[in-house]
Amino acid sequence: MNLQELSAIVAAEFQKSYGRPPRWIVAAPGRVNVIGEHTDYNDGFVLPMAIEHYAVMAADRSSGGKNIFQIRDTNAGVGPVLVDLSAPVQPGEPKWGNYPRGVIAGCLARGMNPGGLDVLLHSTVPIGGGLSSSAALEVSTATLIETVTGKTMDPVEKALLCQKAEHDFAGMPCGIMDQFISVMGRQDHLLLLDCRSRQTELVPMSDASVSLLIVNTNVKHELTGGGYARRRQQCETAAKNLGVPSLRDATPEMLERAQGRMDEVVFRRARHVIGEIERTVHAAEGVRASNWPSVGQLMYASHDSLRDDYDVSCTELDAVVEIAEGIGSKGGVYGCRMTGGGFGGCAVALVKTEMVEAISRQIAAGYKEKTRIEATIFVSRPAAGATVIQA
Ligand code: GLA
Repeated sequence: MNLQELSAIVAAEFQKSYGRPPRWIVAAPGRVNVIGEHTDYNDGFVLPMAIEHYAVMAADRSSGGKNIFQIRDTNAGVGPVLVDLSAPVQPGEPKWGNYPRGVIAGCLARGMNPGGLDVLLHSTVPIGGGLSSSAALEVSTATLIETVTGKTMDPVEKALLCQKAEHDFAGMPCGIMDQFISVMGRQDHLLLLDCRSRQTELVPMSDASVSLLIVNTNVKHELTGGGYARRRQQCETAAKNLGVPSLRDATPEMLERAQGRMDEVVFRRARHVIGEIERTVHAAEGVRASNWPSVGQLMYASHDSLRDDYDVSCTELDAVVEIAEGIGSKGGVYGCRMTGGGFGGCAVALVKTEMVEAISRQIAAGYKEKTRIEATIFVSRPAAGATVIQA
């Protein structure tokens, strides 16, 4: 479904819920990271793309002039979020409301007060699937507030405001990748982001002969349960041990020399990050040159490293990658890896477009056989970042 069709559905849902048509409609996409995992908080490179799955928000001024930012979700069973704009905005219940709450607080602090709103949220980004459903929700909220107030932010500031919302209101010490790509994605492009300088380069990916296949394992393991934060700390420990400001500044040779005086786990974490930063730069070169076999090999290497050194994969993700590897280049698969924070969620495969249906069928069947779980599989072109559909 394209964005126009999706927004028509959301407008109709708004009408059903609030009894009048919406005045504004905005959308922000989820993302898939092609390569560069757990490198963003180490000042490294990442290479994500926005996907054709969005958090869409339709809105109108509050009925009765209330100073409340109200968000209803089309997902029945999820309670509404009510944010009283006359009091300091605090984290609260329901928990999913903390993403928009954090963004509202950040916007208010910048003098962007949207006033009371009735909002309807409809998200097609799978929740907890490692496709940045939370960043999509944050960026959608920020885009709505920009549209309502008529004040726009610089894209970098907007992404950082959304990241801060996630840190301060949701307690997730994420890096900058997800919010940057949701703000800055461009159709038919990957985004090569230098997380140190925050410089971005749009890398064209319009070769129709290849597609990115996203395989949701439909398992979620705890991500906020400390595994992510612990790895951040281990990376900081490694950098300190190597005497560098961040692992971006470390080389494989430096790490090797330090091995004897480093904790074994910390050593492996650093080895992943240092290698992954290099792989990401090479993969961007491969995409520029349409050298898909090379990009695919780097994806497999990334997965191995995330599984063995970074310990963020799981049996279900490993199963998908093994099946993809089994299909191999003869069967149209160039490469495959887990994507996002890990501990469940999605894998991404680079495949030949003409074989995409056969590959999807084989992965679905193989995965079911190995795990007894039904995978959800879809293809996405690189999509545009946050969009105002109706202003
Ligand atoms: C999560 C975080 C990102 C990034 C990835 C791992 O998605 O939100 O900032 O660290 O994990 O690459």
